[in-house]
Amino acid sequence: MHREFDLIGELEGALRAAAAASGIEPGTFEPGVRTADPRHGDFQANGVLAAAKRSGNAPRPMAEAIASALSGAIREGFEVSVAGPGFINFAARPQLLLGWLKAHASREDLAAGASAAHAGETWVVDYSSPNAAKQMHVGHLRSAVIGEAIARLLGFTGARVVRDNHIGDWGTQYGKLIWACKRYLDEAALERDPIDEFERLYKIGNSAAESDAEVMEVARAELVKLQAGDPENLALWRRINEASLSAFQRIYDRLGIRFDETLGESFYNDKVERIYAELSEAGVSSPSEGAQVVFHPEHPRFKTQPMIVRKSDGAANYATTDLAAILYRSEHFGASSILYVVDKRQADHFEQLFLTARKWFAQRGWAVPKLEHVDFGTVLGEDGKPLKTRAGDHVRLTDLLDEAVQRAYALVTGKSPEFPEDERRRIAEIVGVGSVQYADLSQNRSSDYLFSWDKMISLEGNTAAYLLYAIARIRSIFRRQGVECGDPAAESGADAFQTPGEIALARRLVKFADALRLALESLRPHFLCLYLYELAGEFSTFYNADKVIVADPVARARRLLLCSRTLLVLETGISLLGIRTLERM
Ligand code: ARG
Repeated sequence: MHREFDLIGELEGALRAAAAASGIEPGTFEPGVRTADPRHGDFQANGVLAAAKRSGNAPRPMAEAIASALSGAIREGFEVSVAGPGFINFAARPQLLLGWLKAHASREDLAAGASAAHAGETWVVDYSSPNAAKQMHVGHLRSAVIGEAIARLLGFTGARVVRDNHIGDWGTQYGKLIWACKRYLDEAALERDPIDEFERLYKIGNSAAESDAEVMEVARAELVKLQAGDPENLALWRRINEASLSAFQRIYDRLGIRFDETLGESFYNDKVERIYAELSEAGVSSPSEGAQVVFHPEHPRFKTQPMIVRKSDGAANYATTDLAAILYRSEHFGASSILYVVDKRQADHFEQLFLTARKWFAQRGWAVPKLEHVDFGTVLGEDGKPLKTRAGDHVRLTDLLDEAVQRAYALVTGKSPEFPEDERRRIAEIVGVGSVQYADLSQNRSSDYLFSWDKMISLEGNTAAYLLYAIARIRSIFRRQGVECGDPAAESGADAFQTPGEIALARRLVKFADALRLALESLRPHFLCLYLYELAGEFSTFYNADKVIVADPVARARRLLLCSRTLLVLETGISLLGIRTLERM
């Protein structure tokens, strides 16, 4: 039922056929249908401009020819016009809008309309991926929140998604940490806050090793023992990682994150030998001063700055593990795409990694998965510098979430003092955590973003609280009427939309699929945020202008239908961002 409502897909198909019928060589014309500026219509095809340029023809007559060949070939209810140098515009009439709303009655309907986009594909999303034995701080928030939203969006649009937490659980830091654990571990402190204790121990180990060459030697020996599988060190290492993981898990629970896999760096320990052999056999790497390295002669920097894949002491490093992970993800999961949601400061690492993997896979004749670094900027404090506590430390993620919930509690109490205390607390957890998530998601991820409590925990502006409140408001309309939201009986008498408020809202609703497409094409959830914000605004305009509960049963059905679909799209969109919603607020 819904597939017939892939409006953009449908228009593109018809445009291609019309182009062929008007003598344009197949394959030279990409329709390029997008959501249009509402003044011009609902959708716009701008592909004629490029096609005309390519063939040396004038675009306007070409657009007119295609537009007239379209007549009868597209769904009834679209008004077609040609504008400017050669845009083809489509305006949806109210009857068509009504058809769309009626056909999209559930989240499944919305998903079915979108699920063609990535059907049959497997995407591995590598996100969060913090280092063990260290607190997660505000920088880790971005990867977790953006990665989760992207994973949900991909799943919704038909992909098989493997969420993989590539924990940093191996490396040279364990030598010093184990050295300190064996001498200074405080069991009671470990019980209270394991990561705090490991951080304290690491600091002790590190400064001791820095100032005392003997300690450095012993710490190195501890590392070698660990790498060789010494049972005592291995047990300590396991303890460190388990305690770290369960601390991380508490944060993931609050953020609603659930991984399919937690394959940390150590998982690849027995897989790196194969990487050394593969790379040298494929002629991708070369020996250099006892190490194994990869140069990229075609690259301005990497022709002289190699990627080290095996250190001169024979050990693997971050890059080796990442190469092994690409192989594992392709062979084991059959990944068609791998996304790395990681700080943009690691751009060079990923560029080198991808160049290397592509050459290596091509040498072997293997299909290369699509590899993409989904980067993000730094979280800045209101002073424009990386966010720190007053004492100059990193802001711990737990503290940050606690403060958000506290502030949200004040907001909720101010708004709805009559709600019972425990309900206000429950709402505050959702609004507080959701506000932090949303503030992060609603910015273009590649830019740095300014962390501002006042802006993020507010009922005004493009915020989680604004959207959650819009949802609660629609829910209350149904509650007051004693009508189940989405009840077919309440909506069945609806006729085509009439008032400007109704029409504008319906036109916004039918563009949900395009908002998803925009967000996914660029892997930027802020496009979905913006859409939801505009939808909520459109709802407000409608609701202020048109009474929903009116005596006329047809108008009432029409407006209840609009309320229920707005609620559905808002709730679906918010949950795709990884944020929980509320019944009332
Ligand atoms: N653990 C790393 C860090 O904290 C991030 C790992 C990202 N994922 C990867 N496959 N390299 O910087």
